[in-house]
Amino acid sequence: MRKVYFDHSATTPVDPAVAEEMMKYLTEHFGNPSSIHAFGREARKAVEHARQQVATAIGASHVGEIAFTSGGTEADNMAIRGVAYANRHKGNHIITTAAEHHAVLSTCKQLEKEGFAVTVLPLDQYGQVTAQQVADAITDKTILISVMHANNEIGTIMPIKEIGQVAKERKIIFHCDAVQSVGKIPVNVDELGVDLLTISGHKIYGPKGIGAMYIRKGTFWQPITYGGGQERRRRPGTENVAGIVGLGKAIELATERMQSEAERLTRYRDRLISEVMAKIPHTILTGHPTNRLPNHVSFCFRFIEGESMLLMLDMKGIAISSGSACTSGSLEPSHVLTAIGLPQEVAHGSLRLTMGKDNTEEDVEYFLEVLPPIIERLREMSPLSEGYNACAFGTCDAHAHDHGHDEFEDEF
Ligand SMILES: Cc1ncc(COP(=O)(O)O)c(C=O)c1O
Repeated sequence: MRKVYFDHSATTPVDPAVAEEMMKYLTEHFGNPSSIHAFGREARKAVEHARQQVATAIGASHVGEIAFTSGGTEADNMAIRGVAYANRHKGNHIITTAAEHHAVLSTCKQLEKEGFAVTVLPLDQYGQVTAQQVADAITDKTILISVMHANNEIGTIMPIKEIGQVAKERKIIFHCDAVQSVGKIPVNVDELGVDLLTISGHKIYGPKGIGAMYIRKGTFWQPITYGGGQERRRRPGTENVAGIVGLGKAIELATERMQSEAERLTRYRDRLISEVMAKIPHTILTGHPTNRLPNHVSFCFRFIEGESMLLMLDMKGIAISSGSACTSGSLEPSHVLTAIGLPQEVAHGSLRLTMGKDNTEEDVEYFLEVLPPIIERLREMSPLSEGYNACAFGTCDAHAHDHGHDEFEDEF
């Protein structure tokens, strides 16, 4: 059976060239970068080379502005909590958005318990916020703005450059979670006007458990963990040398192939969107139709339940993900899908397909062949399908009012 991996926003395989680089630092050059003997110096050299690779990829002016972390989650925590605690004397207000990953939203929630006030900006139907919304939310107590670059669930790209301008004019520290955008679309910290940026290794063909936080020189910030002097005391603990080497190599490779990959995957993406919308009725495209990640396709199919769709596609060898997570028997719809205004029952029928460097046109064709009968079958079987069957027989309210199938679908 054909195997198609369409879940690159969840994670990616380690590139063989990355694994090869890493291997040397697991076995041969195993030294502790803090040791001053030759073994240590070898490891230190590799860590600093990787730091340079990361700095170059995101246009950082100083290599010292990169601190390695255990991943995107830790970098988000470090950025947000580090700024919040260090600037407490100036104010306690943080602005973020309803689109953020839990690594940001849960961190902000925790800060609220500690006396900070958080404004979570609402999203439009495409999952965007505007720079004006950010500007309007600023008060004299605002110390931090945190807005993601591209959304993991619906692929929408946020107007980071415009928000960066607002932050700069109002002299407020600006953090951006760029876990999903790095390596896929250009990310330049100066052009975007960000002060802190989050990067994760495993979304860009690097290993899991490694990431980085960019912090602009001069940004008022304090560490959130304490220990040795590693990473200029910003992130103490013996460095994950192999992971760091892997991240450096991965970000370099991702930057090299970014343009050609973006062009190729945008073609697949647009074909998938137009054919799925044409072939399957009652489909809602989630996220922005064009201002979205090149590799990202996401829909909600009405009258079906995402988990069943995921399992049926899995049986056909296709790995995708659904925005609804089945936790202890109760289906919780994704907070992002809810925030763009989708009713719970619609959000439950979500599908996210995220392509990567090894996907081919044949994968796209296979998916387009396999999906429609699965949706058809699930709708026939589904308890949610009463509305669908009524609709198919022309007895639903929408038909009665003679304005197409569903006003809601038109909106999206
Ligand atoms: C937007 C975003 N931020 C943060 C993270 C967390 O990154 P990590 O898995 O490296 O902790 C993810 C992972 O899915 C993500 O998509």
